[in-house]
Order: sequence, then structure tokens, then C-alpha cells
Amino acid sequence: MIVTIDGPAGAGKSSISRQVAQRLGFEFLDTGAMYRAVAWAVLRNDRELTDETAVAEVANQIGIDLSGGRVLVDGVDATDDIRSPEVTQATRFAASNTAVRMHLVGLQQQFGREKDLVTEGRDQGTVVFPHAECKIFLTASPEERARRRVADLATRGVAAEFDDILAQQNRRDEEDSSREVGPLRKADDAVELCTDGMTPDEVIQRLIDIVQQRQAAL
Ligand code: DC
Repeated sequence: MIVTIDGPAGAGKSSISRQVAQRLGFEFLDTGAMYRAVAWAVLRNDRELTDETAVAEVANQIGIDLSGGRVLVDGVDATDDIRSPEVTQATRFAASNTAVRMHLVGLQQQFGREKDLVTEGRDQGTVVFPHAECKIFLTASPEERARRRVADLATRGVAAEFDDILAQQNRRDEEDSSREVGPLRKADDAVELCTDGMTPDEVIQRLIDIVQQRQAAL
């Protein structure tokens, strides 16, 4: 069974999807980490982010290993680095690159072959697994997402202004939804869940209920 969880940045998708997978005993795939890994490798190899051919070349050359909750790029642990503001900014050059998307979509489809999988991203229910048995679109209001992000940064000792975070997030939302390839879009057959006012545990339980209802109906 394939469960796709798509939605905008900051809806809490990553940690929630990982825990849903764990509780269901499914494999987990964080596809945002793959786009981040490509951007990280472009920066590390001193290639130009604006050079589409170079970015695609890097994507095709690197080995990305997402096992055990870590992100290894050609064997180098980039788990923390790929979340830095610099890499977060750079990732749009990987995400908007058609050749990179084709390559990563292929890897993602291969990963989902013959296993139970929770996969998280922007285009999982629309492009990568259009025939997934269970599709979820996870949202929250921009203000709620920005509040969570500020709180999350504070727990890591990083002070951030709400207005700055909200503005950055609005820019990423715009980039994500207006991208020509693999834009953020709710699949027609996805269940939409707005998580405003819900605790992470409530969201996890709700998602597990949705998946189990689907499983029972198969
Ligand atoms: O979910 P995230 O913040 O780790 O995603 C990082 C970037 O990658 C974000 O700008 C959107 C992009 N992305 C994408 O284009 N397609 C995906 N399937 C997942 C992420």
C-alpha cells in the first residue's frame, strides 16, 4: 500500500509522516530531503546553481541514501546541513529543474516498488504515485505554519521574527505552487486535512485512522 502525504512547507509533514509510517510499520520516504541533497551537493561541488545542466549532472551523479533516518550523499552525512537556510534557499534550483525531477521521480517510484510506503512531498499523489491507495493533503493556515516554525527554531536556540518567517514562507508557497514541473497541488482524490488547532499527536492519530479505513476498504 502506498500512502502519499503532500502539502505546503511548514504544515508539519515531515515529522508527522515519519511517525505515521513508524506506527503503521511502513517504510518512509522524505522526498524533500532528496531535492535538498541535490542542492547541497551542487553547493559543495562549487557548481553554479543557475546552471541547469550542471545541477542536473550533479543530481545524476550523486548517490542519496535515506536509510535509518539519516541523509547520506555519496556516503557523507548531510542530515543537518540540508536543513540550513543556505541549502533551503538553494533547493528551488533543484526543485524547478525538469531533468532533476525526472531523475528523482524515477528513484522515488523505484523505492515504492513492492512495499508498504508512506511518502511525503509536494507531487507524490499527483505525479509520482498517481495510483496510490491513500492520498492525503496536509495543510495549515500560513500564520499557524509560521508560528510553528518560529517555535521550532526557538527549541533549537535560533531566534526568528514571525513576520520574516511568514514572508519567507509565502515566497516558498508561491514558488512551490507556480513551478512548471511537479508543482504543489492537491490530487483530486486526496483527503484534505487542515491541522490548525490540532496537536501533532492528534494529527498522527487522524492520519492513521484515514489509512486504516482505506486498508479495510481494499
Ligand atoms: O519539504 P521540504 O521543505 O524538505 O522540501 C524542500 C524543497 O523541495 C521545497 O522547496 C519543495 C521541494 N520539493 C519538491 O519540489 N518536491 C517534492 N516532492 C518535495 C519537495
